[in-house]
Amino acid sequence: MSSGESSSSRIDYSRLLSWEAKHRARSGIKMLRPYMSIPGMISFGGGYPHASTWPVNGMTLSLPFSGESVFVPGYQTNSPDGLLPLASYSPPPKTSTLQPHLAAELQYSQTFGQVHFISWLKEHIARIHNPPYAKYEDYTILNTAGNTDGVDAVLRTCMDKGDHVLVEEFAYPGTLSHCESLGLPAIGVPMDSDGIVPSALEDMMSRWDENERGGKRPKFLLVVPTCSNPAGATIPAERKREIYTICRKWGLMIIEDDPYYFLQIRPNGVDSPPCTSFLSMDIDGRVIRLDSFSKIVAPGSRCGFITGPTELVTHIMYSRECSTQLPSGFSIAIISSILQAWGGHEGYEKNYLPYISSVYSKRAILMSNLISKHVPAKAATAPPPSGGMFLWLRLHLEDHPDISDTSVSLEDLAERVFQSLIEAKVLTVPSKFFKAPGKSWTRDEEAKRIFLRLSFATATEEEITEGVQRIGRALTKEWRI
Ligand SMILES: Cc1ncc(COP(=O)(O)O)c(C=O)c1O
Repeated sequence: MSSGESSSSRIDYSRLLSWEAKHRARSGIKMLRPYMSIPGMISFGGGYPHASTWPVNGMTLSLPFSGESVFVPGYQTNSPDGLLPLASYSPPPKTSTLQPHLAAELQYSQTFGQVHFISWLKEHIARIHNPPYAKYEDYTILNTAGNTDGVDAVLRTCMDKGDHVLVEEFAYPGTLSHCESLGLPAIGVPMDSDGIVPSALEDMMSRWDENERGGKRPKFLLVVPTCSNPAGATIPAERKREIYTICRKWGLMIIEDDPYYFLQIRPNGVDSPPCTSFLSMDIDGRVIRLDSFSKIVAPGSRCGFITGPTELVTHIMYSRECSTQLPSGFSIAIISSILQAWGGHEGYEKNYLPYISSVYSKRAILMSNLISKHVPAKAATAPPPSGGMFLWLRLHLEDHPDISDTSVSLEDLAERVFQSLIEAKVLTVPSKFFKAPGKSWTRDEEAKRIFLRLSFATATEEEITEGVQRIGRALTKEWRI
């Protein structure tokens, strides 16, 4: 060792971590990953869109520095031979709001997003949701890097550590773990098969006891109103109105996290309009709506948008100025070009959106029919699907042969059922990973609130058929039917 060099000393990195990093909770679902590598396992676990649904399956990039074009392969196109013939180039009509141009898209952009893209999204929101409060006060759109980014932006802008936030009894784990890391206790509002129950929301707000709860009455309800994750529930319009009225009464804002909105089942395709959203009944400017292209284009597009009252969305935008700084310009260029190629609003609404919902609806209906056929109703049932990516299979633990043995906890019983499915080589996700603390239930009540999330998004038709049959056989054995 030369003079001046000393032996290296190990830095204690844990000392450097912020409060948030130390409290960073990660979803327990990752513990299920090892099961996926078991040979022959059929996975209904992950909620990933199917790559065959992505509207881009190859790209050529023109690269002036290397003086060539390169081909980027995609789903089922491994060479440029698989490319669709290039259409003859015609610049976007001047009348179209969308004016994609890489030289603009790749520049640092305007604070809310690229002007042409934001304007198009605003037209889209007006066409689909037409927020009633726009008559009195303007609303604004902020481009985000998807709904994960959107939720983060809203939580950081509107909440302080210790603030409680209301969520669904069974909620998206990404949001639950993020709330925990930010020190925001998430409280679950009881649900049934149509989503959160209005009377339970009213009850929770009217009985809120600051001392008992350790914090003030919540200011926000964060809800996934269409084809929710995990429960696959869509809140009917009438129930949404009741919830909206309760929120007005208690001064609650609604965060409408709605990435599955256009994956809802539309029995008559384009003639079945998408359901009523909270934004479309918003007379006060109390809804912050989060949309995402993750399920419509692809999760890797990292592109979404927030719609809400201008004053609030401006503050939310400030938070993004020093964090994600809008989605990638490549993404905006590609998405706006796709939307234009589909024929703008008309083509998007009349052709593409009914198509993408039908792709997932077929899978949802197939899985649902197979459950009715192969899974004994004494052991488990699932409500009819509303679309999205998930079915919510309720385990009828109240009819399980070992339910009267109170030395066995419900959690152990549910775990036993889950493990019996693993032995049968089918992976599902237990409801404990989605459960937000809230109301306490008796053993009898709790026995009726234990579920498995089944995703029909990624498995093939053959796998869905075989997987549901395996579930049927395993539960028949477990319930000793
Ligand atoms: C309810 C919910 N919110 C948000 C997200 C994340 O969406 P994004 O890819 O837009 O960040 C998901 C993804 O699965 C989700 O299910």
